[in-house]
Amino acid sequence: MTTSSRAYTIAHLPGDGIGPEVTEVARDCVDTVALSRGFVVEWQSCPLGARHYLTTGEVLPGAALDELRKVDAILLGAVGSPDVPPGVLERGLLLRLRAELDLYVNLRPSKLRPGVTGAVAGLDPGQLDFVIVRENTEGLYAGAGGTVHRGTAFESATEESLNTRAGVERCVRYAAELAARRRGGLTLVHKTNVLTHAGDLWRRVAGEVAAEAGLTLEYAHVDAACLYLVDDPGRFDVIVTDNLFGDILSDLGAALSGGLGVAPSGNLNPDRTGPSVFEPVHGSAPDIAGTGRANPAGAVLSASLMLDHLGESQAAADLDAAVSSVLGAGAPDTTTGWEDALRAVLNARVGAR
Ligand code: IPM
Ligand code: MN
Repeated sequence: MTTSSRAYTIAHLPGDGIGPEVTEVARDCVDTVALSRGFVVEWQSCPLGARHYLTTGEVLPGAALDELRKVDAILLGAVGSPDVPPGVLERGLLLRLRAELDLYVNLRPSKLRPGVTGAVAGLDPGQLDFVIVRENTEGLYAGAGGTVHRGTAFESATEESLNTRAGVERCVRYAAELAARRRGGLTLVHKTNVLTHAGDLWRRVAGEVAAEAGLTLEYAHVDAACLYLVDDPGRFDVIVTDNLFGDILSDLGAALSGGLGVAPSGNLNPDRTGPSVFEPVHGSAPDIAGTGRANPAGAVLSASLMLDHLGESQAAADLDAAVSSVLGAGAPDTTTGWEDALRAVLNARVGAR
């Protein structure tokens, strides 16, 4: 069976805080659907994150990166701790993985599932089902800029937004293909009235790609998009946007669909020149770590995105449906409650086939 193409090596980076707690549940769910859908998963544990950094001084050693390059996918919990200065793990681990593995799409679906109350009262589940395709390697995250005269009255700090035609095009192309497989709606979100250089590039490239795909490109400024997302989220199907706008909008998307606990993400290398990284949108939440109250839904839905990316679409749908079913029955308020409920639903689905 291990010679079957349906055998996957998946790196598990539990990370810090609630990361290990939620990915443990996701891992169990993946093992359950692997068994029922007839594929094999070999897990490789990889101890990176704040704890590893504080004990070894290493953030992402070359040898670990080389190992990660060889796996089929990476499931990440969350990294971070109040004991690590801001930026060390964000730049040194998360953004470095995105750059090194060329994870140029950050896929962030927001779906209001039955039984869930999102931040806006009175919405029906069908009225909120959109995906943010966030450009994930450029923009203000590219690391361009610097500080001069630090500590003096003349200190100056710049962060430059890097936007390449190739980088924008490949991201929009992914979004257009996704929109064509969904409801056909593609909205570019930017701030072209002020960011006239980057905005112009995004607008022209998105227009070209949409036309080629036979789609009508909608456009919204990012400030207006925030308003529409709250007022009339049903207008969105696929939103394509730059790195920082996507970061901000996806937290809003999480709030609208029930909170950070249920929000999944996939950092994708759509060209499959290496593994993609799947992680819940939430962080390590040190305040609730160890209390048994972490919600693993975001991690399980991230695992669902991972299985879909690996081509195991039925198993992916099993996990997605299981999360919906548990939420629909009234979400448990403990991690083990979630684990038991998910297991029961997944086993019942197998029994029913
Ligand atoms: C996210 C996070 C990261 C980001 C941070 C932790 C670097 O906020 O994945 O949304 O800004 O991309
Ligand atoms: Mn974020």
